[in-house]
Amino acid sequence: MAEEIDKNAQPEDLPFLGIPRPEEAGTHPTSTSNMPPMKNAPEELKEMAAKAADPSSATARKATPPAQVRMAKPLAKQDDDPGTWEFGRRNFLRAAGWMSFFGFISVASIGALRMMFPRTLYEPPKVFKAGVPKEYNPNTVSEKYKDTERVWICRDEEKIFALVAICTHLGCTPRWLASEGKFKCPCHGSGFTPEGINFEGPAPRPLERAKITLTETGELLVDKGTTFRYENGDWDKPDSFLKV
Ligand code: FES
Repeated sequence: MAEEIDKNAQPEDLPFLGIPRPEEAGTHPTSTSNMPPMKNAPEELKEMAAKAADPSSATARKATPPAQVRMAKPLAKQDDDPGTWEFGRRNFLRAAGWMSFFGFISVASIGALRMMFPRTLYEPPKVFKAGVPKEYNPNTVSEKYKDTERVWICRDEEKIFALVAICTHLGCTPRWLASEGKFKCPCHGSGFTPEGINFEGPAPRPLERAKITLTETGELLVDKGTTFRYENGDWDKPDSFLKV
């Protein structure tokens, strides 16, 4: 038999609901001290349960978590925030690390590129062709190649030879004075005969001759890389002159 409920009973007379009595408010483990005591507790509870069951109610919406949770934006840090300095130092260290890395890569790349270009001195070739012997008249000095090759092509009655146009004093380029029949150095006045023998001024020795030969086609071939010195007796050697 179901227990008959007294319809005139007061809330405090309903112990089966487990609701603290108004005078016990604040003493229940789930209650707070400032919670106002409930009046007509059963009716309020029913109303709260109905609101929670209604999906359109604010209470239900609160109870149902959204499918996606949108994160709140972090607040901007203030200048006096001690974390700001820490962030800056970290950025600085990161930038310094990257700069060191790229600096190393740059230096290594430059070094690798530099190895592709050896320290070689590219000099103009020392050998050149000077035409055919008949271009040079006997007892003449040709200055055709003086400016470009620093060599005179000289011819006497018997031979052709190539005289190097470098003064044996300090290396100036002498001039051929046809009217005087001599070479004259403009720097300190050294003089040389048409053969290249020094006879005045500070030059200590005669001019040098360059190697001269004939090609298969009959052209004069002068090689400045091979020279002949008078004081060493080289002017009697083959290739120091060409018989004509
Ligand atoms: S360099 Fe020619 S005389 Fe001094």
